[in-house]
Amino acid sequence: MAKSVAVLGAGGKMGFRVTRKFVEAGYDTRAVEVGDIGRARLAEVGIAAVDQTAGLDGAEVVVLALPDSLIGKVAHEIVPKLAAGTMVVILDAAAPYAGALPERADITYFVGHPCHPPLYNDETDPAARADVHGGVAKQAIVCALMQGPEAHYELGAEICRVMWSPVMRTHRVTVEQLAILEPGLSEMIAMPFVDMMAEAVEVCAGTYGIPREAAFDFLIGHLNVEIAMWFGYSPKVPSDAALRVMAHARKYLIKDTWLDVLSPPVVKDSCELIVQGRTA
Ligand SMILES: NC(=O)c1ccc[n+]([C@@H]2O[C@H](COP(=O)([O-])OP(=O)(O)OC[C@H]3O[C@@H](n4cnc5c(N)ncnc54)[C@H](O)[C@@H]3O)[C@@H](O)[C@H]2O)c1
Repeated sequence: MAKSVAVLGAGGKMGFRVTRKFVEAGYDTRAVEVGDIGRARLAEVGIAAVDQTAGLDGAEVVVLALPDSLIGKVAHEIVPKLAAGTMVVILDAAAPYAGALPERADITYFVGHPCHPPLYNDETDPAARADVHGGVAKQAIVCALMQGPEAHYELGAEICRVMWSPVMRTHRVTVEQLAILEPGLSEMIAMPFVDMMAEAVEVCAGTYGIPREAAFDFLIGHLNVEIAMWFGYSPKVPSDAALRVMAHARKYLIKDTWLDVLSPPVVKDSCELIVQGRTA
């Protein structure tokens, strides 16, 4: 087990969650945070932020919990100063897949990402049932060893299991596969459909005069049964009529090329868009 971990961006949304997990797990945790809001958030739970030099001094693992558009800039500043064999952990595939990390062969680059607690789960505790981000409810995680000795895979996976505990499954993927999962599957497939469903509820209410709560209840309940049936949590028994209208509606909703959003060139372009902070 690595003993010392520096978290850069320790007071941010993800950094704050993972820094507390390292402290709880007994790591020598160095919380590096430049923002006043982040430093105040850390101070509220008794974690003192340290400056970057003190944080990196002797750290075996450096977690970059930074905005994806800053990861390349900060990595180019700090990686030349790290001791050989140090592991740098990045929490999203965008910057690594877009080629934003500096070349240095004797440093390990490890990329991990939480899956977030599943929609259908066995949690019974109210706090766990209400936890959609992770940290209270169990979740799976995905991990990729981008470069470094094979033995570092288990070290990186262990770091990710601490950050995102409680973890029920760890999946090993490549960095490209992780980028296909996010931004691809989660943000370029799932999120647009969710966004369109929310918009459709407003159209039911605003254009067709259906009480908004009726449209909402109707959609959420049908989503519950449809997701359960399509993803194997319940027998798939839709009516023949429902399947026929679904096929009919797909012609209105979806271009034949829709699955191209998961292709490596489109995913790479999206990662570059994230890293460069530009809009499409
Ligand atoms: N937010 C999420 O739910 C979530 C989920 C999965 C993965 N991630 C990944 O986690 C990473 C961080 O995302 P976030 O949403 O927590 O970002 P964020 O903007 O909430 O936090 C970033 C923090 O970094 C700090 N910071 C900026 N420059 C710094 C520097 N040079 N040194 C130290 N601190 C610095 C900022 O003050 C801020 O507190 C990203 O790679 C993101 O893709 C986030």
